Amino acid sequence: MWHNNEPVDKRRRFVDAPGFASQMIPTATSLSNGLRKRCFSDSGDHDDRPPKSRRTSPINYITDGEDPPIRKCLPMSFACGVAETIDFKMKLSHGALLTILNFVFSRSLSFAFTISHTGVHRSSRNNCSSLQMATSGPLSCRAIGIGSATPRTVITNVDLEKVVETSDEWISSRTGISQRRVLTHPLVTSEDEDKESLTTLSVTAAQKAVEMSGINPEDIDLVICATSSPDDLFGDATTVAASLGCTNAFAFDLTAACSGFLFGLVTAGQFMDRKNSGVKNALVVGADALSRWVDWGDRNSCILFGDGAGAMILQGTADSDIGKEGVGLLGYSAHSNGMGHEDLKCGFKGESNHVSTPGDGVDLSKGSYNYISMNGSNVYKFATREVPKVLQEALDAADIKADDIDWLLLHQANIRIMEAVAKRLGVPMEKVITNLSDYGNTSAASIPIALDEAVRAGKVKKGDVIACAGFGAGLSWGSAIIRWG
Ligand code: COA
Repeated sequence: MWHNNEPVDKRRRFVDAPGFASQMIPTATSLSNGLRKRCFSDSGDHDDRPPKSRRTSPINYITDGEDPPIRKCLPMSFACGVAETIDFKMKLSHGALLTILNFVFSRSLSFAFTISHTGVHRSSRNNCSSLQMATSGPLSCRAIGIGSATPRTVITNVDLEKVVETSDEWISSRTGISQRRVLTHPLVTSEDEDKESLTTLSVTAAQKAVEMSGINPEDIDLVICATSSPDDLFGDATTVAASLGCTNAFAFDLTAACSGFLFGLVTAGQFMDRKNSGVKNALVVGADALSRWVDWGDRNSCILFGDGAGAMILQGTADSDIGKEGVGLLGYSAHSNGMGHEDLKCGFKGESNHVSTPGDGVDLSKGSYNYISMNGSNVYKFATREVPKVLQEALDAADIKADDIDWLLLHQANIRIMEAVAKRLGVPMEKVITNLSDYGNTSAASIPIALDEAVRAGKVKKGDVIACAGFGAGLSWGSAIIRWG
C-alpha cells in the first residue's frame, strides 16, 4: 500500500515508469522507477507523467518544489535509492548482498541524498537541483595491471555492404568504425584449444593483467565480471576465477551494459576502501559478446557492435598514497535513468513451453531474448548531454581540472560522441584515447581494451591522469578519474 492521499495534481510531479520488461541489459533502473511509481502514484487512471521537458531526469520529479509525501513510503523510497544508486543487477545472491551493503554503508560513498528517520532529504553539498547518485573522491586502490583479448574473426565495413544496405563510407563517417571482431559459433572450430567464448576471452585478458601486476592469482580476493552477455546466464565470474587459479577469491557478475566496467571498478574500489573488507587485490573484467544479440539485418545497429574482453587488477593502497598527488582511483560519479531504458534494450522474449501439470497444465516460457533494439538518435543525444556532466562531477570530486587530465578515455561507441564530449570539456582530440575503428563498440569491454592498448603502446605512462566515462543501456552512465601506476 504505497499510495498516498495527495491530490492528483501534486502526484503529477512524480515519476512514472515505462512498463516493466525482463531484459538482458539492466533491469535495475526500470525497477527503481517502477518502485517509484508505486510510491507516488495511485491506481494509474490518470496521466501522472511529469511534463515532457523534465522527463529526462526522474530524480528531479521527486525533489522539485515541495517535498513529496515521502515519509509515507520510506521503505520503498529506500529501495528506489538503493536500486538507482547501484543500478545494476548482480547475479550471485551473496555477492549482490555484500555489494549492496558495501555501497550503502561504505564510509566513503557520499550519497547526495541522505536517508534519516525523518525521510529523504536533498543534499546541500552541491546545492544541486536534482539528486545525485553516487559521487566520491579518492578510494584507496590503484590499478596495477591491465589486459585484453578480442576474437579472431574480423568483419569489415566492406563485408557488411554485402549483409545490409550500407557503405564503408557511411559507417566510417557516421561512427568512426572500420571493422569489428566477433565470436563465431562454438561448433565451427573443431580443436578444443581453438574454441573461443566470452569466458576464454575474459580469462586471457585477466591472465595478461595478472602478469603485468606481478601478483599471483591466489592473491586475488575479489573477481567481478561486468557483462550483459555471459556464456552462462548465472554468470561467468566464478568460471573465470577458477580458470585463472583465483582460489581465494569470491566472484560475481555485474550487469550494467556499457557502463559495466566503470561500475565494476567503483564497486571493487568500495570493497578496497573499507579496510575491514578483507579485499586487498581485485580483478575487474569487462566482457561482452553483443554480436550474439544483434539483428544482423538491422543496419541501424549491426554496424556498431563487436565482441571482446578487458581486465584490470586493482590493489588496495594506504590512505597516504591516495589523493590529488597520489595514484589510484581519484574520484568517480555514477548515474542511471530507467526512464530511458526503451532507447536501448534487449528484452526477454521466451518461447511457449507447455508443462502438463494436473488439470490443463501451465504455459511457461522457454528462455530466449529479442534482438537488441536501439533508438540511435536518442542514445546519441543522451550521451553527448550527460557524459560531459558526469565527467565534470568526477573531476570535481577528484579536485582536478579538465585542463590537467592527460587522457580522455570514453566508452568506444561513436567517434562523434567522443568529439562532442571532448569539445564540451575543452580537451583536445590528441588527448582522446580511441581504438573504436578496429573493434567497434565492445560494450563493457571497450574501456579496458582501449586502456590496455594505450598502456602497452607506451602512450599512457605512470602518473598520467585518465578521465574515463562509460554510458549505455539502462540508461546508465558513470565516470572515474584514474592516476595510472
Ligand atoms: N548505412 C546507411 N544508411 C544508414 C545506416 C547504415 N548503416 N543506418 C541508418 N542509415 C540511414 C537512416 O535510415 C537514415 O536514412 P533516412 O534519412 O532516409 O531515414 C539516415 O541514414 C540517417 O540516419 P540517422 O539515424 O539520422 O543517422 P545518424 O547520423 O544519427 O547515425 C547512428 C546513426 C546510430 C550511427 C547514431 O545515431 C549513433 O551512433 N547513435 C548512438 C548509438 C550508440 O552509440 N549506441 C550504443 C550506446 S552504448
